[in-house]
Amino acid sequence: MKLNSMRLSIKNADQIVKKLGDVIYVVGSQWGDEGKGKLVDILSAQYDITARSAGGANAGHTICVNNHGKTDKFVFHLIPSGILHEGKLCVIGHGTVIHVPTLLEEIQTLKEQGIHVAGKLLISDRAHLLFNYHKIIDEMQESAREGKAKVGTTKRGIGPAYMDKAARIGLRMADLKNFDTFASRLRANAERHMKMYGFDFNIEQEINYYRDASEILEPFIIDTAHTLWKAHDEGKTILIEGAQGTHLDLDMGTYPFVTSSNTTSGGASTGLGIPPTHIKSVIGIVKAYTTRVGAGPFPTELAEMEGNMLREQGGEYGATTGRPRRCGWFDAAVVQAAVRINGINSVCLTKVDVLSGFKTLKIGTGYTLHGESLEAIPANLEDFEQVEVHYEEMPGWNAAITGVKTFAKLPKACQNYILRLEELLSTPINFIGVGLHRDEMIYR
Ligand code: GDP
Ligand code: IMO
Ligand code: MG
Repeated sequence: MKLNSMRLSIKNADQIVKKLGDVIYVVGSQWGDEGKGKLVDILSAQYDITARSAGGANAGHTICVNNHGKTDKFVFHLIPSGILHEGKLCVIGHGTVIHVPTLLEEIQTLKEQGIHVAGKLLISDRAHLLFNYHKIIDEMQESAREGKAKVGTTKRGIGPAYMDKAARIGLRMADLKNFDTFASRLRANAERHMKMYGFDFNIEQEINYYRDASEILEPFIIDTAHTLWKAHDEGKTILIEGAQGTHLDLDMGTYPFVTSSNTTSGGASTGLGIPPTHIKSVIGIVKAYTTRVGAGPFPTELAEMEGNMLREQGGEYGATTGRPRRCGWFDAAVVQAAVRINGINSVCLTKVDVLSGFKTLKIGTGYTLHGESLEAIPANLEDFEQVEVHYEEMPGWNAAITGVKTFAKLPKACQNYILRLEELLSTPINFIGVGLHRDEMIYR
């Protein structure tokens, strides 16, 4: 791979905006759950606005804050992970699909944790609504798929909500303003789906729910694209929070084992109305090994024992569904593709601490298919499932590294592992995650 801007280095939080730029995108580089929430929480202390551009409550972004020796844990599905900081604005953009009950529940949970969103949260008037019948359809579609064809969705209704959007029958936040028209369109959509899929659904209950909810939502709904343009003109800084991961992208991912939105950097622009030319940096969140939740190809997946060790040490259980995540070795080909697709110029390597205690670490450095080496991930999944992974082995380290503050203080074997990944990705690793908590991050 051609070398990226290898010289970029970030010594401390104060240098972030200067080094990365005024508009940045944080993207998952593998199959989601790389630790985006933790870095977004850290970076959002430096940026004026944090904005979600795509996906819905299929996302689960975890933030752990050390509070006098005990851990305050927050899991966000729809609310941007910048919400914990005072004096900052959070935006849910029009590329998302919003299940209002989940959003209101999240707002309520935050309130109980002492965080109030009023005046801090804006929702795009162009964002599509995800109704309860979308969740029913998601479940029905999944149960209709047989065996290996099951996608293993989060059953949050994501695919069906984006289906309605693409079919141009979706309902948007702005439609709540004229409630009678909204109600009749909602009724028509629900009836259409009930007939097509054959399920029962209490339409009037859903309509009544939205009659009440529309009043609660009203102060949050605005043309957020316009708000962001104005903010940019005024010199405000913007952090775009990606959801899912590059290989779950509807176009570039392992289709059909993907989500239904564009999770890559193009989606950051379309999902918020921010021109691509405004985005100065794309920070790839890269887990120091690989995980995947749900079905689909995973060339470096580990069976039993070693996979279990990663899962237990890394707490690899879904933040949204609680499902055990599939675990495997680092796959450089997967992340190299993410670097190219997104234009990643800075990497945050997460969960390096989880690798402490492994005698040997393996790194997948490339694939061959029927004896020929591959330069890119094949589109045909039968081919992708048959690739042979080439592994390199590196010695592991025993010492726990949580609490280590500088790269130089990491065990030599750990430094070597990080340097090898950096070389394979041709991209500077500027952030190294060595623990769950906000402050367990090395700048470099
Ligand atoms: P996201 O969806 O990308 O935000 O990631 P998730 O929150 O779904 O999953 C990442 C998990 O790893 C969460 O439980 C985080 O608290 C945790 N995590 C993030 N970074 C680190 C790290 O550097 N070390 C450890 N041990 N855990 C981390
Ligand atoms: P965050 O933002 C990991 C996966 C599901 C399934 C596929 C399609 O926390 O990284 P969907 O419900 O979107 O139709 O499911 O995508 N998936 C995720 N996996 N992290 C996520 O989000 C995910 N969001 C969806 O497991 O394989
Ligand atoms: Mg997650």
